[in-house]
Amino acid sequence: MRIPRLVSLLGAFLFLTPDATAAGTQYTLGTGIGDITGPVVEIGFMGYASADQKGTGLRQRIFSRAFLVGSPTNTTERWVYINVDTSCGDTAIRDGVLRRLQEIYGGLYHKGNVAVVGTHQHSGPGGWMNYLLPQITFLGFDKQSYQAIVDGIVLSVKRAHDSAAPGYLSLSKGLVAGANVNRSPYAYEANPAEERKGYEDIGGEVDKVMTALTFTREDGTAFGQLNWFPVHGTSMYLNNTLVTGDNKGLAAIQLEKDIGNGFIAGFSQANVGDTSPNTQGAFCQDTGLPCTYENSTCNGRSQQCIGRGPAWPKPDLNSCEIVATKQYQGAKSLLSAPQTDVSGPIRSLHTFVDMSTFAFTLPNGTKTKTCAAALGYSFAAGTTDGPGAFDFTQNDPGHPSANPMWRIVSALIRNPSEEQKACHGQKPILLDVGEMHEPYDWSPNIVDFQLFRVGNLGVIVSPGEATTMAGRRWRAKLIQELEKAGEWKKGEGWTVIGGPANTYTHYITTPEEYDIQRYEGASTLYGPNTLAAYLALTEKYAGYLKEQLPGSPYPAGPQPQVNTNRSFSFITGVVYDSPAIGKTFGQVLTDVNKTPYSVGQTVAVKFVGANPRNNLRLEGTFVAVERQENGEWKTVRDDKDWGLVYRWKRTEGLTGQSEVTVEWKADMAGGFRIRYFGDSKSWLGGKISPFEGTSGVFTVT
Ligand SMILES: *[C@@H]1O[C@H](CO)[C@@H](O)[C@H](O)[C@H]1NC(C)=O
Ligand SMILES: *[C@@H]1O[C@H](CO)[C@@H](O)[C@H](O)[C@H]1NC(C)=O
Ligand SMILES: *[C@@H]1O[C@H](CO)[C@@H](O)[C@H](O)[C@H]1NC(C)=O
Ligand SMILES: *[C@@H]1O[C@H](CO)[C@@H](O)[C@H](O)[C@H]1NC(C)=O
Ligand SMILES: *[C@@H]1O[C@H](CO)[C@@H](O)[C@H](O)[C@H]1NC(C)=O
Repeated sequence: MRIPRLVSLLGAFLFLTPDATAAGTQYTLGTGIGDITGPVVEIGFMGYASADQKGTGLRQRIFSRAFLVGSPTNTTERWVYINVDTSCGDTAIRDGVLRRLQEIYGGLYHKGNVAVVGTHQHSGPGGWMNYLLPQITFLGFDKQSYQAIVDGIVLSVKRAHDSAAPGYLSLSKGLVAGANVNRSPYAYEANPAEERKGYEDIGGEVDKVMTALTFTREDGTAFGQLNWFPVHGTSMYLNNTLVTGDNKGLAAIQLEKDIGNGFIAGFSQANVGDTSPNTQGAFCQDTGLPCTYENSTCNGRSQQCIGRGPAWPKPDLNSCEIVATKQYQGAKSLLSAPQTDVSGPIRSLHTFVDMSTFAFTLPNGTKTKTCAAALGYSFAAGTTDGPGAFDFTQNDPGHPSANPMWRIVSALIRNPSEEQKACHGQKPILLDVGEMHEPYDWSPNIVDFQLFRVGNLGVIVSPGEATTMAGRRWRAKLIQELEKAGEWKKGEGWTVIGGPANTYTHYITTPEEYDIQRYEGASTLYGPNTLAAYLALTEKYAGYLKEQLPGSPYPAGPQPQVNTNRSFSFITGVVYDSPAIGKTFGQVLTDVNKTPYSVGQTVAVKFVGANPRNNLRLEGTFVAVERQENGEWKTVRDDKDWGLVYRWKRTEGLTGQSEVTVEWKADMAGGFRIRYFGDSKSWLGGKISPFEGTSGVFTVT
């Protein structure tokens, strides 16, 4: 991968060691992965906020991947960037992770040096969010869903910690074509033409650059890569009900399998706000014509306007594979691309900022402030990746034209004050969430502000989805500050933006995009000055990234509410399971064919099942394909494989009967059988007992 350094090539001839700066600083580096797959059935998926999108099974397990960067001589100088296959970071999740890390490691990992960054996928179990608004579609908070994510994240950090060893970091970048488009170009075009021109060769209205941080052992072997590329995790449509990590989750597993040897690949989200994986653009489903440019409608309504992925008219599944493969191949080529060595200090900072009262000065000297969180009317219109269920349209500033009933509902919920209305400028307020605190906060006002640095790389850990141009302005600001401080020579610094991380503050647009009030502007929670506030905070706290630290530590800031133990839950648990009379759990109901299958064909088998919420089988598998090798059965495919699908269906509510169907798109030849690993809950006493099912033997030629 990385060109081996002279020192490792020449073994004992240490006198030929090049000087440290030429090869980069030696760091303590670790990587780790942990399974976070929560309840795959009967729980709503997190992302589209569609109450109908409830899990019915699993296509691919989802993971947390931790990347640890530390100083070999000073254990307080370290940070861990955790890339999690979830829609976003979250205050409750982060709190749970930090509490566990405190128990295990004392103060080694803390709020300052741990970043929990979501990949922004939209097909994982939900119900783990800290605030009330996102809990509504899930009927509250699900402890099991929450705990699976916390435990998986902690396990990934533990593995990164345990594997930490001396190594080197390097940076590379390249363009990934055909994997993202802008879904709100009308808003993007409100940014100054001169500014937009400067980005034409890297994608224009979206960033097509992938930036990679490669982790290399002392002997020159690359053992991990963390990369950043902006594209929504919405390749899978909102009617998909099988758990997946969407395009980034799949890309990570593709690269890890390709390299092997425990290589860990983190595909992190970047300035994702206005990006879409639906590269063919958005069309009206009824007429087949393009939707309106300004507001993404068909006959005045949003519902029929849907983005088409690269494989369309083939299903979303195939588009997801294409967008994943493009990122995987881009990331792989960056492993052998020319590298820039990383050298310099490790720095991190985190502070909480109350955005409902944050006052600051704009670069032109005008004093201003951000506002308590609020969502505009166009928020409810949704996007072309997943239109809203209601009568709202995008690009609806000033006087909303939507269904008047919603004005009543929104007023019932809370009528924003005149001051709050004025603060939000062009955004007509639909949900005044930042001023709704009963029975607990509906949305965050207290926001995580976090930055990391390792040498010539600066990492912005963003609490929301910055749009393409907002992310560029923010990165440019960080470079400017570190150049101004003399930490980086001109053109030497690299910056990336990762998010949504630590909490979820919806979107961050530029002020120009904000005034257009498409979905992204309507979802920019703290008003038109939201981005300007983050730029001001970057200036304020950049000193903590310098080699010479300021005299006093960074302030903790106000504490956000953590609602883990007081959240509502109307989600019912598993009552009990039973097989039909005369049947047993794991019994085969419909077996595989006796005649041979050919590669590419789908093999299916149906078992008497039980509810997978009885045991998540974290770090394990619900289903497996086994191949006969020298008289022994060996697992060749499991829940990590995209082509092996587990479906669960309740067939009888009252008696708790269910069926499990396993489908495998055969991708190799041989003699095989399919296994199913389940756990049933007895109606007497609720005891949970494991069982297994095994299909007949079949061949693939
Ligand atoms: C370790 O690093 C911290 C933070 O940079 C610094 O305050 C402390 O003095 C360092 N400790 C030693 C022993 O160098
Ligand atoms: C999901 O929605 C897409 C777009 O509306 C549609 O083409 C597809 O048939 C739907 N899939 C299922 C399984 O309903
Ligand atoms: C959407 O934009 C079109 C122009 O493309 C306009 O005619 C229409 O009135 C707009 N619809 C709404 C609801 O704003
Ligand atoms: C400073 O910039 C803000 C935001 O663009 C603008 O509203 C304000 O009028 C400007 N003030 C001056 C003095 O130019
Ligand atoms: C919630 O309760 C658990 C179990 O009692 C406890 O360990 C945890 O610290 C509590 N969390 C919060 C945020 O209070």
